[in-house]
Amino acid sequence: MRVTDIEETAAPAADYDITPLLQPLAIRGLRLRNRFVMPGMQRYWCADGAPDLRLREYYRRRVLGGASLIISESCAVDHPSATKNPTFARISPDTREAWRSCVAGVHEAGGAMFLQLWHQGAVNYGGDAESNPDFVALSPSGLSHPGESFGRAATVAELDSIKQSFVQGALDAEEIGADGVELHAAHGFLLDQFLWPGTNLRTDGYGGPAITDRAAFVAEVAAAVRAATGPDFVISVRISQWKESDYDAKIVEKPDELGDLVTMLRAAGADIFHVSARRFWKPEWDGSDLSLAGWAKSFTDAPVIAIGSIGLDKDVMASLNGEEAEQTGASRIDELMRRFNRGDFDLVAVGRSQIGDPEWIAKMTDHKISDIRAFRSGDPWLSHDVVGGLREQPGDRREAAARPGRAVAEERAGARWPGGHRREVDAAVAEARVAQHDRVGAPQVEQPLAGSVRS
Ligand SMILES: Cc1cc2nc3c(=O)[nH]c(=O)nc-3n(C[C@H](O)[C@H](O)[C@H](O)COP(=O)(O)O)c2cc1C
Repeated sequence: MRVTDIEETAAPAADYDITPLLQPLAIRGLRLRNRFVMPGMQRYWCADGAPDLRLREYYRRRVLGGASLIISESCAVDHPSATKNPTFARISPDTREAWRSCVAGVHEAGGAMFLQLWHQGAVNYGGDAESNPDFVALSPSGLSHPGESFGRAATVAELDSIKQSFVQGALDAEEIGADGVELHAAHGFLLDQFLWPGTNLRTDGYGGPAITDRAAFVAEVAAAVRAATGPDFVISVRISQWKESDYDAKIVEKPDELGDLVTMLRAAGADIFHVSARRFWKPEWDGSDLSLAGWAKSFTDAPVIAIGSIGLDKDVMASLNGEEAEQTGASRIDELMRRFNRGDFDLVAVGRSQIGDPEWIAKMTDHKISDIRAFRSGDPWLSHDVVGGLREQPGDRREAAARPGRAVAEERAGARWPGGHRREVDAAVAEARVAQHDRVGAPQVEQPLAGSVRS
């Protein structure tokens, strides 16, 4: 079910002041240099789960353009049920070095980086059965949407092994130098399927009428990650009411339920709440202008990240469905700052606007709005096209998945690039390609880059 919303026009702002967002923020051992975050956004620049050099360069350029924290695109945990799609990111022994390189690139540029740990649950993303023959879609109750089946309910033993894979993903993230992880409990994927009453019908302690019943597994995962990782390592938990398949879905109906959820997850180990909304200014409940982020902040001492159509006049799902969003420039920035200055949230995540222009933050800060390169809906290689394309071309997909492994093997054997110059060459090519992308937009058909950042 999709709901079409009527877009509202934003009132023009004569001037604006975003300097309060330039203040640093400390969270555990992490010091963020400002309040701007790049949220997780899949770019399909992974082969067999490993990011290629473009992704490293793309993240690095967003830090140079102003972001203090990069959250990786959704990165599947190393469990056969997490995803069977080889172009989706994954954290595993095979991909660790590639992610280490991305983290190093972000750190060198002066930013911090989290990996977003993800499991698709009952969402049917297609993929390659041959590259992951053990795949079975596991979820709370085998439902991708109320009344729509895909896969089956996970047993308690399977939930335990999925939890361990989140812990391992966090340990891997910590080992490669990431500053934290974000548990993806939003948008209708596995952890969110527990929170959503329509997809969680369990009666074994992992479901029930209260949000605290349905949050039990998410809290267990957060607590297990907290117990396994060091004191400086930061855990963000991303939550949302809306799902990709249902914009009107609700995990909580009333503010006090949200309070219960936030309090429970905070006690379990959450250091940040990343509250995903499609429009940052939308009041969540009648009688108050607070957004869901504002409400979450009212119940917790933890930093809260707000997000949703900053700089653009249409929401993310409109873009992913191919509608063109126009830049809103300075308008609504006053509203963003009114809410920030009131204490509704501590950080802001800017998604598509930063895909469009890696220097969106710097240009907004410098009031150079007319220099901003517009986001175009063709830029992100829309998920529907990519997933559909993968289904139609399994041979190409397998070839793409195999390519980096082959390149690595050849490199290791010294067969093609004795002296190890290959990575430098690939890095230079990647830098040029991403720079080109950032200047003029993604070409309609992009060939996979031959190299991977794995060494
Ligand atoms: C191309 C694309 C890919 C996305 N992939 C992810 C993802 O991997 N994980 C996630 O939590 N959200 C994902 N999102 C949602 C964004 O993180 C963000 O919540 C959304 O774009 C709204 O922010 P914006 O209005 O500033 O773009 C994606 C969005 C886009 C446009």
